[in-house]
Amino acid sequence: MIITQERRQKMRTGIIIGSTREGRINAEIAAWIYKTAQSKPRNATYELIDLKDYEIPFFTGAVSPRQLNKKYDNTAVQAWSEKIDSCDAYILVTPEYNGSVPAPLKNAFDSISDEWIGKPIAFAGYSYSSGISVIKAWRAIVPAFQMQDVADALEISLVTEVKDGVFTPASGQLEKLESILAKLEKAAA
Ligand SMILES: Cc1cc2nc3c(=O)[nH]c(=O)nc-3n(C[C@H](O)[C@H](O)[C@H](O)COP(=O)(O)O)c2cc1C
Repeated sequence: MIITQERRQKMRTGIIIGSTREGRINAEIAAWIYKTAQSKPRNATYELIDLKDYEIPFFTGAVSPRQLNKKYDNTAVQAWSEKIDSCDAYILVTPEYNGSVPAPLKNAFDSISDEWIGKPIAFAGYSYSSGISVIKAWRAIVPAFQMQDVADALEISLVTEVKDGVFTPASGQLEKLESILAKLEKAAA
C-alpha cells in the first residue's frame, strides 16, 4: 500500500508596523495583534514587518514599479519587495495623519507593485476618532492593487485605548481581531 503524505504549507501573514515616527504607539498595537495571533494554533503563520527597518527612499523613479518585474536598483526597496512578496496576506497597522494615510506608508505601497496584487488585507487604524478616516482612505487605495479587503477592521481610539504610551484594547476588540484573523485566513486559503 502506498501512503501519500500531503504537506501543506501554511499561509504567511505580515503584520505591518506602519508608523516610522519616533515614539510611535503603532508598535504596541502591532505587538498585541501579533501576540493574539500567536496565542493558539492557526492556519497561518504571522510575522511583524517594521516599515522603519527598510528606510525606503521617497519614490522618484522614471518608470512605474508595475513595469519593473520586482527588480529594483535600490537595495532597501528590493528588501522591502522581497519581504512583502513573501507574504500571502497582511494586517496593516496604520496611524491617521491629517485625516488620511501617512506619507511614508503610502510611499512604501507606491514603491513596489506586483508584490501586493490580489492579496487579502485587513486594517487596524487608530486616531482620536478611532481611525475611521484613515481606514476609509486605505479602502480607496488598495483596489488599485486588486487587494481583497476583509471588510472587518480594528478601529482603535487614542482617546480611550491609549494612555501614557500604553495600549489597552477596549472590550470587544479581541473578538473583532479573532474574527479578522479567521476571515484573512479563509480569504488567503
Ligand atoms: C503629521 C501628523 C498628523 C496627524 N493627524 C491626525 C489626524 O488627522 N487625526 C488624529 O486623530 N490624529 C492625528 N495625529 C495624531 C496621531 O494620531 C498620533 O500622534 C498617533 O500617536 C500617531 O501614531 P504613531 O504614534 O504610531 O505614529 C497626527 C499626528 C501627526 C504626527
